[in-house]
Amino acid sequence: MAATRTFSIIKPDATRRNLTGAVTKMLEEAGLRVVASKRIQMTREQAEGFYGVHRERPFFNDLVSFMTSGPVVVQVLEGGNAVQRNRDVMGATNPENAEPGTIRKELAESIEANSVHGSDSEENARIEIEFFFKPEEIVG
Ligand code: CMP
Repeated sequence: MAATRTFSIIKPDATRRNLTGAVTKMLEEAGLRVVASKRIQMTREQAEGFYGVHRERPFFNDLVSFMTSGPVVVQVLEGGNAVQRNRDVMGATNPENAEPGTIRKELAESIEANSVHGSDSEENARIEIEFFFKPEEIVG
């Protein structure tokens, strides 16, 4: 299958608990290749822009505060059917509903502190990758 790309964030709850490697290992074992990665402190402006589709949701302000509460690792992942493959290994948004063996079931703390973000479609993957990476920062 042709390699496709998706966008991933290792969230502040995971970086705080020193789980960057543990999360990345699970992504790699699921058949995804990290073709770009950087650890950043998101600004409020970046978090509000990135999560703009959720602006009207009741959890928006808490989400932005959480995502700016510590470092995150933004990544581009490559693999066959990368968007779905990543969603499968992440598990359900709420770790209580996630399948055993998924990142969120094994590592996440709550629906907000759920350790990882992953794009929900190929179109959003392209938009999200562009939001954080220049083309030359992605080396496949
Ligand atoms: P993510 O995939 O990063 O996209 C939006 C995030 O909002 C989601 O993961 C959750 O971590 C967070 N969130 C916080 N509260 C809720 C909620 N009640 N329903 C859905 N998502 C929530």
